[in-house]
Amino acid sequence: KRLILVGPPGSGKGTQSPIIKDEYCLCHLATGDMLRVAVAAKTPLGIKAKEAMDKGELVTDDLVVGIIDEAMKKPSCQKGFILDGFPRTVVQAEKLDEMLAKQGNKIDKVLNFAIDDAILEERITGRWIHPSSGRTYHTKFAPPKVSGVDDVTGEPLIQRKDDTPEVLKSRLEAFHRQTEPVIDYYAKKNVLAQLHAEKPPKEVSAEVQKALS
Ligand code: AP5
Ligand code: ZN
Repeated sequence: KRLILVGPPGSGKGTQSPIIKDEYCLCHLATGDMLRVAVAAKTPLGIKAKEAMDKGELVTDDLVVGIIDEAMKKPSCQKGFILDGFPRTVVQAEKLDEMLAKQGNKIDKVLNFAIDDAILEERITGRWIHPSSGRTYHTKFAPPKVSGVDDVTGEPLIQRKDDTPEVLKSRLEAFHRQTEPVIDYYAKKNVLAQLHAEKPPKEVSAEVQKALS
């Protein structure tokens, strides 16, 4: 399957991704995660992306399309993939369609993590991540066994630099202005499935299952 997860910051894309990935053996490509790795390593790509990411704005279409184009060439991504956080503009969606059309492929399903903005601040400010695995925790909704420590490796958890109430405001603004049109784009192609992303993680997983069966 070739899947896209779309939704505002904190809607649960990164939480559901590993579950879908394990079930369908798909490669998981999260542009936000890839960009954060590049920023931390101070690669040319990371240096270009940092300023926009810190402000909660989108990085340029060329940058992210380049990342996805490169990543999709991996043999593990040939049979199917989960795109988490891409495409986020209509231009990105069109470029993706072009890339896939060249291989005779297309998107099978777009999962829309629909949720009210009001719920997202609590989710974002309570989030803690384990950077090297991408595992995500929440102080209230998904606490680690030991506070501040990853369950599997025992390594320390960190908070994302853009997970502040102020930066969340611009991320939400970018979502409504630039990414909501992407949802319409896929609705017109009849590949959109709606999720109730405000529900607890297990119930969202059940909805994902249903949408993909
Ligand atoms: P990115 O990393 O993609 O961030 P985002 O879209 O803002 O999404 P998040 O990762 O914040 O949310 P999520 O839906 O994954 O939530 P999670 O599951 O972790 O992008 C970061 C930046 O990179 C962008 O601002 C931009 O600058 C740049 N960028 C990336 N892609 C780009 C692109 N294509 N074009 C241009 N620029 C791009 O959940 C959040 C918290 O809630 C967690 O603590 C979790 O435990 C908890 N939680 C999850 N589900 C539930 C639930 N059902 N109930 C209760 N708690 C829950
Ligand atoms: Zn995420």
